[in-house]
Amino acid sequence: MLVVAEVENTDRDRPVDLRSDTVTTPTPGMRAAMARAEVGDDVYAEDPTCRALEERVADLLGTEAALFTVTGSLANLLGVRALVRPGAEVLCEARAHIARAELGAHAAVFGVTSRTWSHPRGLVDLAAVRELLVPDAGPYFVSTAAVSVENTHNFGGGSVQPLDSLRALRELTAASGVGVHLDGARLWHASAATGVAPGTYAACADLVSVALSKGLGAPVGSLLAGPAAAVADARVWRKRLGAGWRQAGVLAAAGMYALDHHLDRVPEDHANARALADRLADVAPGIVDPAGVQTNIVVLDLAAAGIRTGAAEVAERARAAGVLVSVLGPAALRLVTHLDVDEAGCRHAGEVLSTALK
Ligand SMILES: Cc1ncc(COP(=O)(O)O)c(C=O)c1O
Repeated sequence: MLVVAEVENTDRDRPVDLRSDTVTTPTPGMRAAMARAEVGDDVYAEDPTCRALEERVADLLGTEAALFTVTGSLANLLGVRALVRPGAEVLCEARAHIARAELGAHAAVFGVTSRTWSHPRGLVDLAAVRELLVPDAGPYFVSTAAVSVENTHNFGGGSVQPLDSLRALRELTAASGVGVHLDGARLWHASAATGVAPGTYAACADLVSVALSKGLGAPVGSLLAGPAAAVADARVWRKRLGAGWRQAGVLAAAGMYALDHHLDRVPEDHANARALADRLADVAPGIVDPAGVQTNIVVLDLAAAGIRTGAAEVAERARAAGVLVSVLGPAALRLVTHLDVDEAGCRHAGEVLSTALK
């Protein structure tokens, strides 16, 4: 008899935590799947559950292979490295996770430089990319080796990259021998919002990272997917960076469980985010455009709503009332819905924030 059923997420006094979709804790069912997992030494390529997860995600994305990694940051690091030699550049949007939230890893570890374009929702700006793109800059300037796109775009408010512009980007870059990296930490969310299959998005890129720990409820795990040779090389670099792991099947089992049980419910998170945005736009017009909330992320612009209270103060008031949100800037807050916050929790958060904003 497994004891995991006792470890239920039933603490009714816990706060409504909307800081991120990474704060979820494994459900009893997921813990049971982890406890049952068949494992082996993954560095020896002998972990059947890791293999099964990698094959499943490669299949979902229509790629030859995939590599299970401990974090999305590592999947991105390995993915960009595969496309950009030291000293060359990757182009990305100014608030892309790889540019802002990976602590300069791409430069610090692999000598990758970057230039950025800006878009209020983090979307691909083809004209800007065309202007920045210099595939062969000669001996005095930096050459562009890849473009990285984030779908959905986290700091852009969970925005979905239009498929047409991803396809146009693919055409533009392919013509000049430049690679495309897709940071698809929330590619599932893009697919749920549009009905476009994950593989259709993945086909617009050379290498794709996807996460199991953002909104899908796994405690750990991302995958880097792409051609078999690139993934095999990434496996070597994963080990070189000290991130080879042994009986990782217990974690892969959580990922498998997340795909089996939590992928289909992502639209609930989108509906909750939209309802929250509707509520807040009612009490503070201009704070967010609810029609722009496509997935599970709501970014609030306090200044646009004429609210003079700072974001940190609003977050503190909300925290005191049991609702946690992220401060993105002096006048910006982020709320992220996920499987540990239900509709009632989101409604409660809407009420608490309505008061905190006054
Ligand atoms: C778009 C995006 N990419 C990558 C990551 C990195 O994932 P991890 O926290 O697993 O390193 C995140 C994390 O939130 C993210 O939002």
